[in-house]
Order: sequence, then C-alpha cells, then structure tokens
Amino acid sequence: MVKGKLELVICGAAGGIGQPLSLLLKQSDLISHLALFDVVNAPGVAADLSHINTKSTVTGHGKDQMDEAMKGAHTVVIPAGVPRKPGMSRDDLFKINAGIVRDLAEGVAKNCPGANVLVISNPVNSTVPIVCEVLKQHGVFNPRKVFGVSTLDAVRASRFSFETNSSIPPSSRVTVVGGHSGTTIVPLLSQLPNNFVGSLSKEELEKLTYRIQFGGDEVVKAKDGAGSATLSMAFAGARFTLAVLQATVGGKTGLIESTYVNLAADADATREFKAKTGLEYFAQDVEFGPEGVQRIVPLPTLSAYEQGLLEVAVKELKVNITKGTAFITDNS
Ligand code: NAI
Repeated sequence: MVKGKLELVICGAAGGIGQPLSLLLKQSDLISHLALFDVVNAPGVAADLSHINTKSTVTGHGKDQMDEAMKGAHTVVIPAGVPRKPGMSRDDLFKINAGIVRDLAEGVAKNCPGANVLVISNPVNSTVPIVCEVLKQHGVFNPRKVFGVSTLDAVRASRFSFETNSSIPPSSRVTVVGGHSGTTIVPLLSQLPNNFVGSLSKEELEKLTYRIQFGGDEVVKAKDGAGSATLSMAFAGARFTLAVLQATVGGKTGLIESTYVNLAADADATREFKAKTGLEYFAQDVEFGPEGVQRIVPLPTLSAYEQGLLEVAVKELKVNITKGTAFITDNS
C-alpha cells in the first residue's frame, strides 16, 4: 500500500451483498481505492461504480486475480460464498463457504498480512475461527484485526424494538452478544432506556427476542429461494466497516459496535469470562482504536432471562467454534 492511501478489498463484490456494500463504501472519503474481487462479474461492477464522482478509484479483479486485488490492502471485507435458501440454517452453508473463506484467508496472509479482516460469510460463528487459524498457521495472526460482522443483529434489534415501543428511537444501539445464528444471538434489551423491557409482558419480550434471533429467516422465506438478506446486510456491513476505518485512520475515538472476535483481542478484559465459559470467540461490544480492537467492553449485568439465553448460546457456540477450528487444524 502506498503511504497515506487506503485500499479496501471486497471479496464477493459482485454478489447480493457485495454490490450494495461496494456502492455504500464508494461514498466514503476515507477510502482511496476500492478493489472489487469476485469469481464472476467483478470488472462490470467495478466499471459501473467507477463513474461515481467520489474520491476513490475502483478496480475489478476476476477469478485468478485475488493476489493483485489484495496486495498491500488496509482492510479486506468478505461477503463471498453462498447464501441460505428456505429451510437451511447458517450451519448448512459450512460445506461450501468454509473452503471459500479459507482460500481468501490464505490470500490475506500472503498479500496483506497486517490487514483488518471483516468476515460476513456465514456461518460467521465458524468462519471467523477459520480465518484466525489460517493466519496463525502463517504466523501473522493479530486477534485485534479479525472481526465477525454481526452488526445486522444489532440493526434488527434496534428496528424491532422501535416497532414494539416507539419511545425507543430506531437509531438506538442495542448490544447483541454471543454469536451470529439463531439462539447464539443474545440481544441485551435490558440495556435499553425508558424501562423498555419493564414495559413488555413476558410473552412480548420472548416474541421480540425470537424475532431478533430468527429475523434472517423472514427474509430468506420472503425471497423464496433467491437468497438471504442483502440490502439490510450491506447497510449493516457499511456501518461496521466505516466504524473500523474511522477509528483506524480517521482518528475517531469512542466508536463501539458489537462484533464476534477472538477473545485474545483483549485477554485481560476477557480472562474471567473465558475461564468460566471455555469460549475462545464471542460477540460483544468492542471499542475500536488505531490498531483495530482497542478494548472489549465488559459484559453488563444481565437480567435472569438474558442469563438463560446466554447459557444456551454458549453451548452451541462451542460446537460452531470447534467445527471451524478443526476444519483448518485437522486438514493441515
Ligand atoms: P451471493 O451468492 O449473492 O454473492 C456471493 C458472491 O460471492 C457471488 O458473487 C460469488 O460469485 C462470490 N464468490 C463465491 N466464491 C468466491 C470466491 N472464492 N472468491 C470471491 N468471490 C466468491 O450471496 P450473498 O447474498 O451476497 O451472501 C454472501 C454471504 O454472506 C453468504 O455466506 C451469506 O450467508 C452471508 N450473509 C451474512 C450475513 C451476516 O449478518 N453476517 C447476513 C446475510 C448474509
């Protein structure tokens, strides 16, 4: 990377998420170059975007051009792979997406080992461990720079809470911990102001929580075989990417998002939690800094209901994490 220039790579840039995400990021002055990598259609998407009169330049890179796309990149965003069809869980995608994400992580290790890596491809609970294991094998793993993008869960939590009680502004940030699939998604609604949770009946709270955990299924069902969330995901992905960029190069402090990370990113803050749960990865509020994760924000006091959700999440997360880790360690 040329000093002072920020190159951002989007892998899977021609896909349902990749295209609108590229469009949103084309609008940021923090990015000087957008490299769009995809096994199909990348040059066309790049040509189209390159006519937009914002600062960044755009290039498209096809099937055999991953290395040139990634060379010296500051940040790599990964929405590559297959999305869900009705009836599928995120874990059903593992067979195909695990190999895709592994190959992209190899590309990062070889071409831009110091890059921030933002993983959108599902199942995030397992694909993030895959990226970390590949980077470890190459001796370039920095836990502060690998993120599972679970922002869509927080976006849905804010929107659905507002729909439930309009005194909660739709822009309120909800902390969502755990992971990014079904019951591993644990929204901490008790943190919302105006006694939000107290205003709900037990049934209303359970219904809202379920909707946040399984909101993705609503989109998969409505798209009826044509994929999963793309536009709301692009919105969430851009929000997350811009927060990372604003902290790493824009000099902004105090930016916080919930994200799925390796707990070694802030070993001191997470030692006790790790010892208690046995988890190596967990989604939690993270404050960003110039080097990626600045600190992992300690878990707030959970309500008894949230504590119960967390216990269920921990069990499933363990299985997901082991599956991702073993995909690399058992095959090398
Ligand atoms: P899509 O099928 O529309 O696009 C995926 C793109 O990746 C395609 O253009 C495809 O050509 C490309 N691709 C496949 N293999 C590749 C490789 N080896 N290198 C580079 N590009 C490659 O799928 P969509 O809807 O964009 O979803 C992408 C992923 O994001 C899926 O795994 C989906 O489950 C996940 N997702 C994650 C969410 C989250 O909250 N983290 C939310 C919604 C979807």
